[in-house]
Amino acid sequence: MKIFLDTANVSEIRQAAELGVIYGVTTNPSLVAKEGGDFTAMLKEITEIVDGPISAEVISLDADGMVEEGLKLAALHENIVIKVPMTLEGLKAVHRFSQKGIKTNVTLIFTMNQALLAARAGATFVSPFLGRLDDISTPGLPLIKDIAELFLIHDLKTEIIAASIRHPIHVHEAALAGAHIGTMPLKVVEALVKHPLTDSGIERFLADWEKMSK
Ligand code: E4P
Repeated sequence: MKIFLDTANVSEIRQAAELGVIYGVTTNPSLVAKEGGDFTAMLKEITEIVDGPISAEVISLDADGMVEEGLKLAALHENIVIKVPMTLEGLKAVHRFSQKGIKTNVTLIFTMNQALLAARAGATFVSPFLGRLDDISTPGLPLIKDIAELFLIHDLKTEIIAASIRHPIHVHEAALAGAHIGTMPLKVVEALVKHPLTDSGIERFLADWEKMSK
C-alpha cells in the first residue's frame, strides 16, 4: 500500500516528503480552508514538493461546473487529480474527465455500489472513508475489503484510497484489506514510526556504548 498525505499544509508536506515514503497528497475543501491563502498557488507549491498524484477537489455541485473547475485545476500540473464527490452529477463529470484523459478521485464513498459506479464511470481512484464510518459505529474496514474484492472479481483498474484514516491500526488494516493507497495526516505517519521498545532499545544501545568508551 502506498502512503499519501492528507493535508493542505505545505510545511507538513515538506516534512513528510523528506521521509521518502510519500507518493501523493489528497486535499479537500475543509483542509484547504483550514490553511487559507490562494488554492492555485498552494497546489503549484505542492506539485513542486511531491512528484505524484495530488487530489484537488471541485466545489461545484453540477457536472458542468465541476468540469469547468476541474479543467482549470488539471491545467496547473500533470499530477493534479480532480477530486469529485460521489453524486449523479459527479459521475457525469468523472465520465467526461475520463474521456479527456484527466485523472479523478471519487470521494465520500460509503458503499460498494458507489465504488462500482465510480469505477465504471472511469474514476482513477475511489476514496472510501474509513474513519467517518467508524465514527458512526459502522465498521469501515469491511467496506475496503469488499471494494478490493469487487474490483478484483471484475478486473476494475480503479485504485482504492483508504481515506479518513485516524490512527496506525487503520493503516495496517487497510493495507491488509487490499487498499492500494492509504491517505493520512502527518501525525499518523509519525505515529507509524513509534514503538516504545524501539525508543528504549536506542537508549540502551547508547548507554552501553557510553560505558565502553569510558
Ligand atoms: C480524503 O481524501 C479526505 O480528505 C479525508 O481522508 C477525510 O478525512 P476526515 O474524515 O478525517 O476528515
